[in-house]
Parts: sequence; structure tokens; C-alpha cells
Amino acid sequence: MPLFSGNKENMSKFRHTIRFLKEFVRSPRATGAVAPSSRFLAKKMLDWMELETVETALEYGPGTGSFTSEILARRKPGARVLAVELNEGFVQALRDRHPELEVAHDSVENIRYICDQAGIAEADCVVSGLPWAVFPDDLQNRILDAMMTVLKPGGRFATFAYIHALHLPPAKKFRDKLEKHFSRVSASETVWLNFPPAICYQCVR
Ligand SMILES: C[S@@+](CC[C@H](N)C(=O)[O-])C[C@H]1O[C@@H](n2cnc3c(N)ncnc32)[C@H](O)[C@@H]1O
Repeated sequence: MPLFSGNKENMSKFRHTIRFLKEFVRSPRATGAVAPSSRFLAKKMLDWMELETVETALEYGPGTGSFTSEILARRKPGARVLAVELNEGFVQALRDRHPELEVAHDSVENIRYICDQAGIAEADCVVSGLPWAVFPDDLQNRILDAMMTVLKPGGRFATFAYIHALHLPPAKKFRDKLEKHFSRVSASETVWLNFPPAICYQCVR
């Protein structure tokens, strides 16, 4: 499978990468990565989600939309997709690019309130692009606890972690938190065609 397929797509990926890099320079802790996720990582995250069966999907930290386009392409007709993004520039770009997407400009810590405002009682799944590794402990806890107020029992949660940091204590601690919050947690094989290479955590509430 070629990495890039066509000039228009190349230009669009290049623009997203530059935008992402700019935001990383401006706000490294919140952005949490120097480049958007690859389509290979998007595929690994979403193949497991079975989006064609889902009524309501939440996306945490969509950034320039590496997962968003794929979520929208895979959703079943009429399903709702609500993306929550903290960075105003990314929010504007997502609204321009995907008018059919619901986008909340907020922190996912407030997901219960965001869902109430949107008339969503519970979500079937959460796809996360959040940079957990750069979040302090208490922010991770608040986000996971808040997620438990919206994700339905049996609902799926997918997130990723870069492999270069997996052996470090914060990564092990984060995995323990996932085990505490979810009834099932598994890790995918490494997606090498991503910068940096990453694994996905696949969690069931
Ligand atoms: C590592 S980037 C991932 C972007 C995209 N999902 C991808 O994989 O290329 C993390 C994104 O999470 C957003 N973010 C960070 N903290 C957040 C929060 N508390 N609530 C919502 N979005 C947040 C950042 O602005 C950034 O767009």
C-alpha cells in the first residue's frame, strides 16, 4: 500500500502536518505530538470499533482530523459523531472541513456537560487521540472518571501510546488506570508506519 496516493491528498496531508507542527511549537503539552497520526494508526484504532454498528461515537482530541475522516466514512447512516477539541484553531479547521461533524470546543474533562448540552445520554464508543503521556496524573484521572459517566456499559474505548515510552513508569501507571476503569483491556501489535510508532489500547467498559 503506498504511503501517499495522489497530489491533492499529498498537499492536504502536508498542510495538516504543518498546522500540527505549528500548534505543537505554540502549545507542546496540550498538542502532545509533533505530527498527526498516520492512516495506518487510524485503521488500527478503528477496525476494532465496529463503527457500522454504533449510534453515537465520541472523538477526544481530533486535532487535524486523522481519525475523524475515517470515523465519518465508517459510521452508519444517521449515527452521531461528536468531537471534543481544546485547541480553537483545530476546532475551526474541523468545522470548515467536516460541516456534518458535531464539534465542541472544550476539554473532555467536561464530557458529561458537553453530552448533556448535545442531548446525548450515553455513547457507544470513544476514540481518543489525547496525549495521555504528557498529562499530569490528576488530569488523567478526571478525564477517565468523566468518561465513565457517558460511555455505556459494554461500550468501547480506543487510544494509542507511543512505543518509545511504554517501558517508563508513567506508561505502566496509565495502563494500570485503564485496567481499573475497564473490564477488558488489550494492546494491539505495533503500528510501525506512524511517527512515532505506536500501539493501540482496546478497552471495553
Ligand atoms: C496528539 S494530538 C492527536 C490529534 C489527532 N487525533 C491525531 O491522532 O493526529 C492530541 C490532541 O488532543 C487535544 N487535546 C489535548 N488536551 C485536550 C483536552 N483536555 N480536551 C480535548 N482535547 C484535548 C490537542 O489539542 C490535540 O489536538
